[in-house]
Amino acid sequence: MLQLRLPKDSRPVTGNHYPAAQGASRVRTFQVYRWDPDEGQSPRLDSYEVDLDDCGPMVLDAIIKIKNDIDPTLTFRRSCREGICGSCSMNIDGTNTLACTKPIEDISGTVKIYPLPHLSVVKDLVPDMSHFYEQYASIKPWLRNGADVEEGSERLQSRADRDKLDGLYECILCACCSTSCPSYWWNGDRYLGPAILLQAYRWLADSRDGDQDGRLDQLDDAFKLFRCHTILNCTAACPKGLNPAKAIAETKRMLLTRNGAER
Ligand code: SF4
Ligand code: SF4
Ligand code: FES
Repeated sequence: MLQLRLPKDSRPVTGNHYPAAQGASRVRTFQVYRWDPDEGQSPRLDSYEVDLDDCGPMVLDAIIKIKNDIDPTLTFRRSCREGICGSCSMNIDGTNTLACTKPIEDISGTVKIYPLPHLSVVKDLVPDMSHFYEQYASIKPWLRNGADVEEGSERLQSRADRDKLDGLYECILCACCSTSCPSYWWNGDRYLGPAILLQAYRWLADSRDGDQDGRLDQLDDAFKLFRCHTILNCTAACPKGLNPAKAIAETKRMLLTRNGAER
């Protein structure tokens, strides 16, 4: 029989509650997904009361405060705290975003925090990104150009060609877009998803690259590229304001134009 609910042992149960310290003046509750593979238990939702007068303004500040002052077992990824490294991506208040750039004040009521959806959970807020990185490696994300460059010289690019990389090079591979894409949820084993396709287009759009045909050959596949159905969740989710759906549309256009011209 078709099962539309999570198996019973995957449904989060109510977990521990950590009240604010006495005298806390501006209390906000953070409800956080917790799961430890070594415990062999169902995931649980722990709730932590944090005094916002004793905490930085972003959701990541609250998570760090929880780990430092309330519960050192809470596990999450973070590095730069500036929206640059992409490691603190998680689902906050129902939206995939970066914890370090998400102001607590933008959320009303309890702040609900889960790992990025539709990835296996390693522990607590840490998803398994292995497949995502394998897909990234599969597009060979580096300059491919066999043409010699004179010693002491560089591969030059006009200002107009350089401008074509704006909106692409800023991608920090946080996976907020891919994990909000329904096509990636259901076909992520074969569909590359918006993040990797935006990265693939970043090289297709680079005038210095010499392997446009090889890159298009690799993407010319019913699943890798054409599983995008232009639902646009990806663009709505990107915390860097990028437009992966547009990059995908451009890639499809390049491919169809090339294939049409070849016939
Ligand atoms: S536009 Fe394509 S990549 Fe973006 S969410 Fe929709 S199906 Fe996924
Ligand atoms: S396109 Fe945006 S949401 Fe997707 S991986 Fe890059 S920065 Fe993250
Ligand atoms: S900690 Fe680097 S993007 Fe949030």
